[in-house]
Amino acid sequence: MPKKKRTVLDIVAMKAAAEKITVLTAYDVSIARMVEAAGIEIVLVGDSLGNVVLGYPSTVPVTMEEMLHHCRAVSRGISLALLVGDMPFMSYQASEYDAVVNGGRFLKEAGCDAVKVEGGVDICPTVRALVRAGIPVMGHIGLTPQTAGQLGGYKVQGKDVASARRLLAEARALEAAGAFAVVLECVPAQLAQVITREIGIPTIGIGAGVHCDGQVLVSHDLLGMFEKFVPSFVKAYANLAPQIKAAFTNYRDEVKGGVYPDAEHSFTMQVEVAEILKDQAEK
Ligand code: KIV
Repeated sequence: MPKKKRTVLDIVAMKAAAEKITVLTAYDVSIARMVEAAGIEIVLVGDSLGNVVLGYPSTVPVTMEEMLHHCRAVSRGISLALLVGDMPFMSYQASEYDAVVNGGRFLKEAGCDAVKVEGGVDICPTVRALVRAGIPVMGHIGLTPQTAGQLGGYKVQGKDVASARRLLAEARALEAAGAFAVVLECVPAQLAQVITREIGIPTIGIGAGVHCDGQVLVSHDLLGMFEKFVPSFVKAYANLAPQIKAAFTNYRDEVKGGVYPDAEHSFTMQVEVAEILKDQAEK
């Protein structure tokens, strides 16, 4: 484990060294500490926060204040990983001014090292403005959940020649605009391989096959904690939801049955003091 904080330059250097980059999401300090203890290089406070923590139907309703609140919590749990905050829908689309002001808040107020924005060629002027302002940017193309409606839903992107070429052009444009890495979400593995070969910055895949320079997953999916919808590309490395539910049910049953708290989980006072109290109560 490195002893010093990772920088965006370390992440870019990992591509050159052909060292795979690992990225996981976190939304609170407990998970953040565990993600860092596992040696994960990048912690992303994704706007998937909206789905898996806040109970929204999509990422669209997530606000700046909600993102900053959770980024602050996560930042208190990590000291080595690079911390990336996801810019929520409408915090960067309306103007470059909005993007820089809101992007800056992730660094100044929430302890983030970089921000992530969704979009390809259209978003490049904004990426340039952020980078010019000193805010490192991770791009995100392919299936972009904030604009999934425009893409016809949560579908694999880049399956035909025209859309695959468009995605390659977008990845190139993001690199030229100064992004330090780009997330490829839900694209065919062969296309992700071509993009990874063609650009100098790391590709971070999610549903994009094994050839990307790194991989990202939503921690709740990997842990088997989010049962509402699990994308087919997710590998559940644990199945915690049934275990958590069983623990809650056991607790409920033991409280109802007077089993918990037992002596081991209670405080006691000296017998003499208890006797005096008992005597007083009886008077
Ligand atoms: O919001 C998020 O968690 C993401 C990752 C899945 C890339 O954007």
